[in-house]
Amino acid sequence: PRRSSPGAPPGPGRRAPEELRSHQWYGTDGLRSFSHRARTRQLGYLPEEHLGKPVIAVLNTWSDINPCHAHLRERAQAVKRGVWQAGGFPLEFPVATLSETFQKPTPMLYRNLLAMETEELLRSYPVDGAVLLGGCDKTTPALLMGAASVGLPTVFVPAGPMLPGHWRGEVLGSGTDMWKYWDDKRAGLIGDCELSELESGLARSPGHCMTMGTAATLTAAAEALGVTLPGASSVPAVDSGHERMAAAAGLRSVELVHRGRGLAQLLTGEAFEDAVTTVLGLGGSSNAVIHLIAMAGRAGVRLTLDDFDRIARRVPVLANVRPGGGPHLMEDFHFAGGLPGFLSRITDLLHLDRPTVAHDSLREQLAGAGVHNDEVIRTRDNPVAAEGGLAVLRGNLCPNGAVIKHIAAEPHLLEHTGPAVVFDDYRTMQRTINDPELGITPDHVLVLRNAGPKGGPGMPEYGMLPLPEYLLKQGVRDMVRISDARMSGTSYGTCVLHVAPESYVGGPLALVRTGDRITLDVPARTLRLEVSEEELARRAAGWEPPPERYERGYGALYNEQITQADTGCDFAFLARPGTVPDPYAG
Ligand code: FES
Ligand code: MG
Repeated sequence: PRRSSPGAPPGPGRRAPEELRSHQWYGTDGLRSFSHRARTRQLGYLPEEHLGKPVIAVLNTWSDINPCHAHLRERAQAVKRGVWQAGGFPLEFPVATLSETFQKPTPMLYRNLLAMETEELLRSYPVDGAVLLGGCDKTTPALLMGAASVGLPTVFVPAGPMLPGHWRGEVLGSGTDMWKYWDDKRAGLIGDCELSELESGLARSPGHCMTMGTAATLTAAAEALGVTLPGASSVPAVDSGHERMAAAAGLRSVELVHRGRGLAQLLTGEAFEDAVTTVLGLGGSSNAVIHLIAMAGRAGVRLTLDDFDRIARRVPVLANVRPGGGPHLMEDFHFAGGLPGFLSRITDLLHLDRPTVAHDSLREQLAGAGVHNDEVIRTRDNPVAAEGGLAVLRGNLCPNGAVIKHIAAEPHLLEHTGPAVVFDDYRTMQRTINDPELGITPDHVLVLRNAGPKGGPGMPEYGMLPLPEYLLKQGVRDMVRISDARMSGTSYGTCVLHVAPESYVGGPLALVRTGDRITLDVPARTLRLEVSEEELARRAAGWEPPPERYERGYGALYNEQITQADTGCDFAFLARPGTVPDPYAG
């Protein structure tokens, strides 16, 4: 009497207990099932509370150190409430938190670690479906990469944006305004007093950055992929609607298990194409390029830099949200209709027949969606920019590509030739950038190397190189900057990013010398080092690979396995196709 569900018998569209993956743990004859049931009694659960029910793993990236996820402990309770009410059995798993602000050298070093943890937890425990809680930058791709590799029915619960910042009558965007006011302080326009007020005004509630930074871009991509509930990605973190969304995600996860709708049915080539369209039409973060390529790879979908450039040319930017557009923030975007409203304006560019976690088709999901504020989510005939916000560059300086978020750049710099000033690493750049001896003019091109996936290490967000203080004081606010680093989604400027291959592995960026002329031509999508092939070959012959950064530990594994930016920076052994035995197969 203890081995099958004492609850309602399976009805149409319900899974019988023996059909559940978790049945192998709880319901079969033998010592192991007996032991698992005994240990669940030890946890305080009655047999009728869990036996025969879909087990939903609630993966929570909450941590005391992650302000973007400070509310997720409570939200996990709402998810569990939903799971219980739908007749499931929720189990919460604390997983690694990747706090964009605090984790050094960069949480990008650990994205694949969280992806591995996610994959292995879901596989090795009695799990039938999952709800993933995250949102701060890398947590979204990490959780979804891991979950995609397992393929169970999964709902993603985005952490939601924090409340808008405020200071002396101005509305502030986290990240974006932090950089802006820091430059003001360096230029002598504000002092310590203003700075300490800003500390309390920039980020005033739990939730991820409330500009269209990496967090908002990636959670929107998750919604476009169909793995969140409709409209979930922009619900403000502290809005009561966020708790309701979390509960609904719990309810839905059980339903998905019964329907047998796993991630593989959702994460198709069409879904990724729509996610790219979404990211570009939102004027979203350049980091999305790397993460979407990596996520697609886990789903067995080939997505390339060229797909981004191709799609960018047909997608207008409609989200008038900082930093790509402006002046609005994510809360405005939410109340203007959120992602469903935005998507309703570009239905001709989407694949409407594919399923989502909530509906049998995206068409059905978007029925009734609309925009309530044309200033925040622009109409097609009044876009923020006629083309998508990102461009992919090619040329002898970036044979495998580079990325520029040209809508966040000064238009006059998009076609520019100037002499290079080269910095071998970030610390040297920090130490010397303000030295007038370098004689940097607004025409110079700032080049930073050894900041890529291996060289950074972890490809830190160094890409928005600071301008020399003496130029800031003259009112210069943008210059051409080139690196193999990434840039924060809340940053701006004419910054060429993700140069591949990176300098640390001997990419051409390693060969640039101060004084070489570099030509950036965004309309032509090229980046050229104006140095002859012969001279470059001569320099390459004299190039010595730098020593490995790590002798042991996770960093050594990272060094050995990390792939370049153009292929998503996944680990080679995680990205490759192949099967993994079921833990109960042995
Ligand atoms: Fe977490 Fe920006 S710091 S999203
Ligand atoms: Mg960021």
